[in-house]
Order: sequence, then structure tokens, then C-alpha cells
Amino acid sequence: MVKIVRKKVLNPSVTLLEVEAPLIAKKAQPGQFIILRVDEQGERIPLTIADFDRKKGTVTIIFQKVGLTTELLDGLEEGGYIRDFVGPLGLPTELPEGAKRVCVVGGGVGCAIAYPQAKGLHAAGLSVDVIAGFRSKDIVILEDEFKAACDHLYITTDDGSYCEKGFVTDKLKSLIEAGNQYDVVIAIGPIIMMKMVAGVTKGYGIKTLVSLNPIMIDGTGMCGGCRVSVGGKMKFACVDGPDFDGHEVDFDELMSRNAVYRPEEAEQKERHTCRMEQLAKSMIQ
Ligand code: NAD
Ligand code: FES
Repeated sequence: MVKIVRKKVLNPSVTLLEVEAPLIAKKAQPGQFIILRVDEQGERIPLTIADFDRKKGTVTIIFQKVGLTTELLDGLEEGGYIRDFVGPLGLPTELPEGAKRVCVVGGGVGCAIAYPQAKGLHAAGLSVDVIAGFRSKDIVILEDEFKAACDHLYITTDDGSYCEKGFVTDKLKSLIEAGNQYDVVIAIGPIIMMKMVAGVTKGYGIKTLVSLNPIMIDGTGMCGGCRVSVGGKMKFACVDGPDFDGHEVDFDELMSRNAVYRPEEAEQKERHTCRMEQLAKSMIQ
């Protein structure tokens, strides 16, 4: 069990939890993830480590409420406990040798993972530009944190309600066209966004890393649940990744595999909501 020492609601659907996990904090590197279970009957979900503090012995996760497990996780408060919390899993992010100039592209809640990448690379002395894209102003997260962790921060919103209007890909293209020479681009966010970013950079021959989030079960390379096709070969994201060469990933296959359990997820969430409503009614009566 790990204890929650800090909870912060970043926007109506995205929450940050900092937990006491000294052994994981001691070893964690940007790019790695943990697998948790909220309770004994809970499903296992992987979440990329958003931050870690070796001195305090804490690990931070940031998640979006998208299903039953993340709803239950969001229901926990400071002082509460998460049943199982295992990690660090996966390989740390590895840049091409000699890379000096990096552009980190985060999309929506994927910015939670883009942040430790930017922070780690900036602290290591690399030149880091960040493009962070959100649908609208009200869901922008981690703006101050990003400012402190990069050389230039560019925020885009799809509807133009804050900073520049457009997708992250529009900004990336304009920065490259303006003469910014990136050695590597790191993209983290919705699969479609990573696919589009890789499409842009391929045209300019810029090495591109993407952080994949397929369905995972054991997280140790045994179940095959997280398999992805990279360069025509089968890889397991939990042990071979989660970072891969964006120009080699079969994003369409990943999108279709990730959608397989949508009906079951919706049914579980519906059942839970009904149970909570019944409980609330019985308490009022
Ligand atoms: P979103 O749909 O709001 O998109 C965020 C940004 O991505 C947009 O503002 C836009 O700039 C860009 N984008 C979206 N579609 C695009 C397109 N077709 N072309 C170019 N750019 C595009 O994102 P969200 O709802 O906050 O993100 C949720 C998704 O992120 C979930 O699917 C989640 O699984 C994924 N995610 C991935 C990771 C990871 O490790 N890869 C981590 C956290 C979340
Ligand atoms: Fe089972 Fe990766 S999650 S092999």
C-alpha cells in the first residue's frame, strides 16, 4: 500500500496524486511507468511517472478520469492509500547520441508525461522547446511547471481561447520552417496526435520518439497485452518501451487495439454509477 501525501485537481477531469514510494522514487527515470490497483478487486492500470522526488521519497502520477478505475482513484484523498503500486517499469527515455536541441510535444493530459521529459532534459543542459496543446483554455495544465523546465514554451489551443490557435502540429511545423533545428522531437499525447507529429517530422528527417500507452496487464513482458508493431516487428511496450521510434510505429493498429474493451469499460462505469446513486438514495431515506 502507498500513502497519498498530496492531491491536486489540475482541471475538471485531470488529477495529480503524489504518493509515498521511496523505493520507486530512488530508481525512477523519465519515461518509466508504474502499474497500480486501487483496491484488491481492481483492474491494473499503467500510468507514466509524472515526477519523482528522491529526497522526499515520493512519486507523482497525473491521470484523466476516463473510466471506472480512474474515477475510483480520483475519489481517494490525501492520507488515503492505493492498494498496489509497482515500478518503475519500462525503459527510461534514451535520446540519440549527441542530441543537443530537443522539442518536446505534449497533447492534453499527455503533457503530464511531457513535463518530466522536458524537466529532465533541461536539467541535463539540453536546449528544450516545449509545445503543449489543449482543446481550450479551461483545461490547460502545468503551465508554470513547463515554463521552469524549458527554454521556450508554446501553448496552443484548438479553439484559440488561449495563446495560439491550432494543433501542436501546426506550431511544430512553423518552428521547423522558421529554422529551428531539432536533433530530436519527443511526442506524448493522444495516439492520433503522435501519428500526426511523426508525419510532420518524417518529412524533415527529424528523429522522433513517441511514448505509447497500449492496454497493459502484467507489465513484465509475459501476457502480450501491450504488443505493438514497430518497423514491422512485434514489440512489447512494457519491456521494450514505452518509447519507440515514431516513424516506425503502426499507429492505426494501436488505435484499433486500444478500442477493443471500450464497451466493457462503459458498462463497468455505468454499473458503478448506478450503485453509487442507489447508495446515495438509501442514505437520504
Ligand atoms: P486531446 O484530444 O484534447 O488532444 C490534445 C492535443 O493534441 C490537441 O489540443 C491538439 O493539439 C493535439 N491533437 C489532437 N488531435 C490531433 C490531430 N488529429 N492532429 C494533430 N494534433 C492533434 O487530448 P486529451 O483528451 O487530453 O488526451 C487524452 C489522450 O492522451 C488519451 O487517449 C490518453 O490515452 C492519451 N495519453 C497518452 C499518454 C502516453 O503516455 N502516450 C499519456 C497520457 C495520456
Ligand atoms: Fe503484458 Fe506487456 S503488459 S506483455
